[in-house]
Amino acid sequence: MDTVQQLKQQAGEYAVQFVTSGMVVGLGHGSTAIFAVRAIAAQLATGELKDVVGIPCSRQVEADARALGIPLTTLDEAPVIDLTIDGADEVDPALNLIKGGGGALLREKIVAQASRREIIAVDEGKLVPALGTAWAVPVEVVPFGWRTQVDYLTTLGANVTVRRLSDGEFFRTDQGNLILDCSFGPIAQPEELATQIRARAGIVEHGLCLEIADDVIVAGAAGIRHLQRKA
Ligand code: A5P
Repeated sequence: MDTVQQLKQQAGEYAVQFVTSGMVVGLGHGSTAIFAVRAIAAQLATGELKDVVGIPCSRQVEADARALGIPLTTLDEAPVIDLTIDGADEVDPALNLIKGGGGALLREKIVAQASRREIIAVDEGKLVPALGTAWAVPVEVVPFGWRTQVDYLTTLGANVTVRRLSDGEFFRTDQGNLILDCSFGPIAQPEELATQIRARAGIVEHGLCLEIADDVIVAGAAGIRHLQRKA
């Protein structure tokens, strides 16, 4: 395992200490969150945790959690989640995020907004001075008329690429939609940009996650830091 993977593992596993028996837990998507999912499964297997039920943020995590033996429920059955552990692509000093590198941004946001506490686990390479510095903002769009969204997002200052699989086919989200990766460079006014992106029919969601994270667990060479969003 390379160093970044080790840091992801440390951050993901550290976050699991905040899970307690009886909780409804949101299970995040991605290579960091999966370490938390595995740790929850391991603690359920030993009896250290009991009566935890998970709500997965993607079909992939749903399959992983089932294979690991984590009991699952849905937001229809359990509309309030006690705690969610997820990853992020970028974290700014105010603990705002870019998410969606794995394409699960819509379900991740739905789960986050239904959560009493959203804990984000990252390696220190995800920390940036401003959102957009190193990562494009993923924007989920319905397939109908998607090229018009490229034109619109370009007028907002983005360099847009449609996400594709390695075989050249379009990447499809769990909803069957497309992802447009929008490079803006460092974003001075993320709230304003988020409003502009959402103003368009056919744009389903974007990966700017503002004021969603309550805690960010950062694993770095010097150890783990636990950051908390100021009210
Ligand atoms: C999934 O859609 C994302 O929001 C992930 O949480 C994010 O891309 C971080 O992924 P890694 O943990 O794999 O770096």
